Amino acid sequence: MAKRIQFARTGGSEVLELVDVAPAEPGPGEVRVANRAVGLNFIDIYFRTGLYPAPALPSGLGTEAAGVVDAVGEGVTHLKVGERVAYAQGPLGAYAESHVLPAAKVVRLPDGIDFETAAASLLKGLTVQYLLRQTRELQGGETILFHAAAGGVGSIACQWARALGVKLIGTVSSSEKAALAEKNGAWATIDYTRENVVERVRELTGGAMCDVVYDSVGKDTWETSLDCLKPRSLMVSFGNASGPVEGVNIGILNQKGSLYVTRPSLNGYADTRERLEWMAGELFAMLESGQIQVDVAHRYPLAEAGKAQDALQGRRTTGSTILLP
Ligand SMILES: NC(=O)c1ccc[n+]([C@@H]2O[C@H](COP(=O)([O-])OP(=O)(O)OC[C@H]3O[C@@H](n4cnc5c(N)ncnc54)[C@H](OP(=O)(O)O)[C@@H]3O)[C@@H](O)[C@H]2O)c1
Repeated sequence: MAKRIQFARTGGSEVLELVDVAPAEPGPGEVRVANRAVGLNFIDIYFRTGLYPAPALPSGLGTEAAGVVDAVGEGVTHLKVGERVAYAQGPLGAYAESHVLPAAKVVRLPDGIDFETAAASLLKGLTVQYLLRQTRELQGGETILFHAAAGGVGSIACQWARALGVKLIGTVSSSEKAALAEKNGAWATIDYTRENVVERVRELTGGAMCDVVYDSVGKDTWETSLDCLKPRSLMVSFGNASGPVEGVNIGILNQKGSLYVTRPSLNGYADTRERLEWMAGELFAMLESGQIQVDVAHRYPLAEAGKAQDALQGRRTTGSTILLP
């Protein structure tokens, strides 16, 4: 038997339960991974609360982990039993000792990247790859605003932006988080609990404002974010930490300066094995060169997944959190 976290109804973290299940056998095109470290992500909370519906209940939870392939289904040629791997997409159920998923969603881990680092960085790092390198391909010299700059995605974004020569202005909710974001390469930070974000962006940019705004907070920051942009520039709305952006009158993009807006997801960018491997290759190169160092700031036993989610949702974490099966 293998342990996994599941939920039979949506709600608070109390709906998560640790259960024993018989490990499934991989079908054609699938592999089974014995997880060694599991990544905790905000999207897991969206599924638990029902903001994003799980395909069926009871459901497993989580989409990111690193471990060892221990069974391979028919037709899988690029992965073998015993290989060290990681994944950040696929069916819910990564919060577990064992998980079966499509082999096309699984990447081999370079020797220099350990399981904890991989589980703490694959989903978040692939996200930063498509945000900074694909939603718009940043060249260096741009000024961007990045919300939640001391969080899991934000900590990697600060380092990747620095490596690209991009001036990242990060929003944070405390001076400790500001110091962390700056250590990671943020060009400037704004503590939105005591500073006006639009005014500070205007001051910092000499009135020019930003080339791109990356907003994962959603509801609370949507309009502020639009006000931080240059005319004809890009708003990337990629998360809902405060709730989803709803009821938007598209005319606001005209009023705020003929703006562009995109609402992307990792699954929309890493949608083929080739694209996933290209994106993961860029991330692994950044990790192996030391240009990105992953802060595994919080570790919890798998059984305490609910406690870990409460800390993430309650803004009490910085960097990445992992669960240990
Ligand atoms: N679309 C995609 O492909 C994709 C992929 C990965 C992640 N995401 C999104 O990226 C965001 C970051 O994910 P993460 O896992 O790395 O989380 P995280 O950034 O470590 O944690 C969320 C942070 O958001 C900030 N925040 C602002 N308002 C909040 C609120 N009302 N409730 C909770 N937090 C709030 C907090 O930082 P402060 O205290 O500094 O404000 C908090 O620490 C999430 O919104 C997630 O959904 C999207």
